[in-house]
Amino acid sequence: MIIKTAEELAGMQEIGRICAITLKKMGEALQPGMTTKELDLIGAEILASYGAKSAPITCYDFPGHNCISVNEVVAHGIPGDYVIQPGDVVNIDVSAVKNGYFGDNGASFAVPPVKAATQKLIDCGKRALQCAIRAAVAGAPLNGIGLAAEKEAHRHGYTTIRNLCGHGVGHTLHDEPDSIYNYHERRDKRILQPGVVLAIEPFVAMGDTYVEDANDDGWTLVTPHRRQVVQFEYTVMVREDQDPLILTWAE
Ligand code: CO
Ligand code: CO
Repeated sequence: MIIKTAEELAGMQEIGRICAITLKKMGEALQPGMTTKELDLIGAEILASYGAKSAPITCYDFPGHNCISVNEVVAHGIPGDYVIQPGDVVNIDVSAVKNGYFGDNGASFAVPPVKAATQKLIDCGKRALQCAIRAAVAGAPLNGIGLAAEKEAHRHGYTTIRNLCGHGVGHTLHDEPDSIYNYHERRDKRILQPGVVLAIEPFVAMGDTYVEDANDDGWTLVTPHRRQVVQFEYTVMVREDQDPLILTWAE
């Protein structure tokens, strides 16, 4: 969506903040011995306490309130009986809706003890998101977002996943503009409009460039080599002459 009124901005900031608080608190609650289902229900309670509803359930009938993707699972992991172990990497992706406005954010959390190689990948994933959002300025090419994320990944010997994209967000979870590529897509000639709301979410990988279905559940995504991938995601509003406003902000 393109935010045009103060009311729309307030609505998007409210749901953004709810998504950010939920993600933050789920990250804090994450510990070995709990199941991914238990973690999901903690998130569900927080969303409900703010009067928000899970977007994956509302939009896609997803079998969980949040996507929880452990280790080799890259995205769309279904919360279940898996017991979280020391050393696991857990990606939590929280998207939700309130008053017709959607927000979307995600992060990868490492459960101690964290391997040095894992920490390095996570640090690069966070920086890739920072670089990507700084490229999201009104008037700039939309494909500069993927270019910036990919550059940061390549600088550290990593890759980005090409068949998972960011997306517009607003009155729906996946709104216009679609397909915000996480690499430099030269054929993409779109220009960023002021007020446009984007979920920017680079996936940084240890050499892999695409994901595929892990099984026949219709959701779980892995890389062909089953290697670790991390993702960090914010919902932002594009502005003129400055960095975008981060809507999924927890403070
Ligand atoms: Co998300
Ligand atoms: Co998203």
